[in-house]
Amino acid sequence: MTVNFAMVGCGGMGLRHAMGYIEARRTFESLNLAAVCDLHEAAAERIADEVEKATGRRPKAYTDFQRMLEQERGLDAVEVVTDTRMHHSFAIQALEAGKHVMTEKPMGLTIRASQMMADAAKKADRILSVAENFRRDPMNRLGKALIEAGAIGRPYLALDIAVSGSDGIMHGTAWRASKNAAGGIVMDAGVHNADLLLYLMGGVDTVHAQTAVLRPSREFKSMTQMNANLAKFYAHREQAEQRTQGGMEQDAIDSAFAVIRFESGAIGQLTMTDASPGYRLGAETVHGSEGTLVRSPSRSGKGPEIRRQDGSTIKGDALLKLVPDWRLDDKTAALWGGHRRMASYEMPFEEIDRKVIAIEYQDFVEAIENQREPEVGPEDGMKALGLLYAVLESGESGKPVKLSDVLSGSVSAYQRGINEAAGLG
Ligand SMILES: NC(=O)c1ccc[n+]([C@@H]2O[C@H](COP(=O)([O-])OP(=O)(O)OC[C@H]3O[C@@H](n4cnc5c(N)ncnc54)[C@H](O)[C@@H]3O)[C@@H](O)[C@H]2O)c1
Repeated sequence: MTVNFAMVGCGGMGLRHAMGYIEARRTFESLNLAAVCDLHEAAAERIADEVEKATGRRPKAYTDFQRMLEQERGLDAVEVVTDTRMHHSFAIQALEAGKHVMTEKPMGLTIRASQMMADAAKKADRILSVAENFRRDPMNRLGKALIEAGAIGRPYLALDIAVSGSDGIMHGTAWRASKNAAGGIVMDAGVHNADLLLYLMGGVDTVHAQTAVLRPSREFKSMTQMNANLAKFYAHREQAEQRTQGGMEQDAIDSAFAVIRFESGAIGQLTMTDASPGYRLGAETVHGSEGTLVRSPSRSGKGPEIRRQDGSTIKGDALLKLVPDWRLDDKTAALWGGHRRMASYEMPFEEIDRKVIAIEYQDFVEAIENQREPEVGPEDGMKALGLLYAVLESGESGKPVKLSDVLSGSVSAYQRGINEAAGLG
């Protein structure tokens, strides 16, 4: 079976998805990108060029999503890679038209928007997958396997700290300055941190946070200045918003300090800011009764390490002895040169990036073929988003919030304005 799909949103992440699609087709050919759509014709044509160059088949370029849905009769699926505020709208239209959907992270603009997507998928009996890429890095798979094998004993503390500094707007993208567009580093990048915390530590009970916009006046800087790794993917990108006077006021939260109580009883800290001039700090650790797991920086190829109370460090192939049964699945192994077990790997960022996206495609296609849940479906997509909104809701109210209350919608004061602006109020 070949899954014919269309992609809407041909900006920076759209081009990265095109590279992931091309990579995926090197090891399995059961998917075909039939059409691409972006408000900006040149952006859609750019993606079509890349795909044609690599596969010999040119997806048809559209500038209107509904027109694409109407005209592309043979579509099985739609992939949503637009700005976050459009995810629910395109996903629901596609699901109602009987298509399976994969959406970029964060799953939706708010919990309400995401719940509408989940309901639409259930009603249409179609797959809804969230393209959460970080956990698919083999080094995060190894980190999880080490925890599950008891390599650090009982995990009781997790730290996830990402401090960076810039007076630029994230990715030089206007929508990323806006609260109503789910912009800001805490939401847009933090959802990866949230997903990994849930992946490694299990369910979250309660969150208590302080949040702020510490640096509201932001400049548009080039992607080379903002994120050199990603600059080449954003060179073709056009934005609907006018860039005025070289900058804009950011109302999206740029700083969050959160403490978390997991369902297991473990505690954790999620700290994110991009308002730290000239200073960076990062820590991704899980601490347990028998040792500390120093997590791999996602998409670096650098392996995790385990530190023990006696000062020793376990790394490299010695880690694999702690997880004798751990293996990468067939398709991931095929992408990583046939290796099923590895404690690190060397690869340029771009290659890692397209391989983890290729895994998302593989999982999506297999979920469709086998009528099974995707690895990150509506439930996990909403939990990761819910954890971030729990941080933002707690920051808004100054009170601890339960993740379950955020997911049920009973705690939603921070999201109220966003829902209203999007017509979801
Ligand atoms: N998983 C990751 O590592 C990762 C990284 C970056 C972005 N993302 C996510 O991917 C999504 C896109 O981010 P991006 O960086 O590519 O943003 P972007 O601004 O570069 O691209 C968004 C594209 O969507 C298009 N678009 C917007 N409204 C549209 C409409 N109505 N019809 C057709 N096209 C429309 C825009 O014209 C633009 O080209 C976001 O949800 C973001 O959070 C994920």
